[in-house]
Amino acid sequence: MSSEEPRTDRVSNPTGLDPRYYTPLLFFVLSYNTRPPPLLPRFTNNLTLYPPCPSTTSENVARFLSHLKNSNLFPLNTMCLSEQSRASNTANSADKHMTDMSDLDLPVVIPEETRSLEVSQCLYPKEYEGHFDRLLIPKDEIAQVVQALAKQLCSDYQGTRPVLVCVLKGASPFFQHLCDHLMQQKQGFDTEFIRVSSYEGTSSTGNVQVAGGLNLQHVQNRHILLVEDIIDTGTTLSHLIPHLQEQASPKSIQVATLLKKRLPEPAKCEAKYVGFTIPNHFIIGYGLDYNELYRDTQDIFIISKEGIDFDATTLN
Ligand code: IMP
Repeated sequence: MSSEEPRTDRVSNPTGLDPRYYTPLLFFVLSYNTRPPPLLPRFTNNLTLYPPCPSTTSENVARFLSHLKNSNLFPLNTMCLSEQSRASNTANSADKHMTDMSDLDLPVVIPEETRSLEVSQCLYPKEYEGHFDRLLIPKDEIAQVVQALAKQLCSDYQGTRPVLVCVLKGASPFFQHLCDHLMQQKQGFDTEFIRVSSYEGTSSTGNVQVAGGLNLQHVQNRHILLVEDIIDTGTTLSHLIPHLQEQASPKSIQVATLLKKRLPEPAKCEAKYVGFTIPNHFIIGYGLDYNELYRDTQDIFIISKEGIDFDATTLN
């Protein structure tokens, strides 16, 4: 095999799916190589199947991908279609058969060990060069999970009009994308914003400051959904929820968090809706900051020592 040819590995049936559903997926023989295929969009956002086949439902595809991802057989962002199936298609037909990924099993578990994901493929301001130890979650995976969370919410809040309360600042991109999906599903909602802080540097102070911004009248006696970026110790929410319960007497109060850290100790507060569980690292990006930097990236990274030591005042 020349170095130009992609490497193709076959995967044995790992999903327990009925082979009738599984075979068409294998038929495509997922191949992986380090370069994106010439005609198709990079294989990160959606699985594109050729030719479309009745049994390749989005649910089966999602289960299959979820298994591959959890088993770490194939890093999701390096999977692409086999040469055989790729050759018979064009970029235009690729767009027509994008598969809906909203049936992903949640939460998606991000494994402890390093995944082979390339920081170099991400977009970020040049001043952050060297500040990432590694890429933890690429933007396409975030997008899939936000879509799946929105689907759960639509189903649970059907027939009601919840108030989505964005916990600033970190949850802001997650909140915005979640709202986009709810709008696409014609799920009505109101929005509110609350400012809370408990972190100094990379550790929680345990001293939770609710800085306000919330119109209490607006959330009174409503179904409240708190939208958080990350649950670490759970201290923030364990203060915020009783505060809102006392002040707003809501009909219900639930939490949707994009991320939850897997810590040895249980968190002080659990969320009903969790996008990813992640190893215990300090992470940045997609709204998450370290001393107010790094909110302006689309992907989520683990911060490097250089990032921690960086003097942000040199940027102004
Ligand atoms: P908790 O109160 O310990 O659950 O921490 C929750 C809050 O701390 C989040 O809303 C974040 O603002 C912040 N936080 C926790 N872990 C991280 C992290 O790894 N990176 C950035 N911010 C974090």
